[in-house]
Amino acid sequence: MSPEEALQLAIEASEEVVGTTSPNPPVGAVILDADGELAGIGATQPPGGAHAEVMALAAAGPRARGGTAVVTLEPCNHTGRTGPCSQALIDAGIARVFYANPDPFPQAAGGADHLRQAGVDTHLLGLPVPTLSPWLRATKLGRPHITLKFAGTLDGFAAATDGTSQWITGETARAHVHADRTRRDAIIVGTGTALTDNPSLTARGPAGLYDHQPRRVVIGRRPVPAGSNLDRLGFEQYPGIDEALAALWESGCRDVLLEGGPTLAGAMLRAGLIDAIRAYVAPAILGAGRSVLSWDGGTTISDITRFTTTAVHRLGDDVLIDMTRKDH
Ligand SMILES: NC(=O)c1ccc[n+]([C@@H]2O[C@H](COP(=O)([O-])OP(=O)(O)OC[C@H]3O[C@@H](n4cnc5c(N)ncnc54)[C@H](OP(=O)(O)O)[C@@H]3O)[C@@H](O)[C@H]2O)c1
Repeated sequence: MSPEEALQLAIEASEEVVGTTSPNPPVGAVILDADGELAGIGATQPPGGAHAEVMALAAAGPRARGGTAVVTLEPCNHTGRTGPCSQALIDAGIARVFYANPDPFPQAAGGADHLRQAGVDTHLLGLPVPTLSPWLRATKLGRPHITLKFAGTLDGFAAATDGTSQWITGETARAHVHADRTRRDAIIVGTGTALTDNPSLTARGPAGLYDHQPRRVVIGRRPVPAGSNLDRLGFEQYPGIDEALAALWESGCRDVLLEGGPTLAGAMLRAGLIDAIRAYVAPAILGAGRSVLSWDGGTTISDITRFTTTAVHRLGDDVLIDMTRKDH
């Protein structure tokens, strides 16, 4: 198996743990034996648990000796709650290491150098790893990565003029949103949405609540009524955007989903805080209503804020467009 093929397996392994590892990155690792055959696969365990390399080494056992490790992120070089992964690879007798991204976290970086000094043939593959990009960007910015999610009509409305918005998209799209929520550290809404929609902000699948529930966060000063769904389930409230993002970062959130509404989303877009957009677009026209984003934005075409389309999915009758910022 080539290192590139092994990296795809490592990315698939990391998919399984997205949403459960913060503040640590969701990393995947694969061990090939000395003949290049698959010997072990692993992914990061919840905080305090083993890192991906250690999981993959455990799965490979003695077959790791003289073999190759392929990891989505540079093996760490520091002793936190667990020992350094670079040393674990050396101790297991790994001969070659390929990693897809350098570690941007100063305390953990240096793993590749440590491996090279120990005589391990170590290479940066430099390939994109979608499961890591929110964590990498969050680490670079020192705030959580923010994905704006909205459901809108073809003519760009997120709610009717009377405020009703349930439901613009169909069941398949709504199920997709729930599956996405379970992969995030937190969901944010503004008080406008909390008061109008009485949302639960839970992640629910066909069998009930998913195991991992994101933190429920409301931004704004107006009180959320006692007895509302959020009040029953428990939530955090912050008066403004800066307070919320600082508290979320400090408490380990790295990947959050902003679910609106239009006023808060517009304010965060204007502040340059939207890193990615998930637009669920229904083949429906309202003609008037609340725009998916409301802000006193551009007046001329040169004021436009552009994103890059990274994926398009059909979900029943609706379409999901995934976008990232141009400078992502
Ligand atoms: N289709 C969709 O995807 C979707 C998603 C969500 C919501 N919606 C619809 O959107 C409507 C509610 O949206 P909305 O725009 O009225 O409310 P919103 O965006 O949910 O909340 C706005 C509130 O956020 C708070 N906030 C805190 N910091 C802010 C800042 N820097 N700038 C702006 N706001 C800040 C303010 O609360 P305080 O005034 O309390 O301080 C503000 O009033 C509902 O009709 C809902 O059904 C649709």
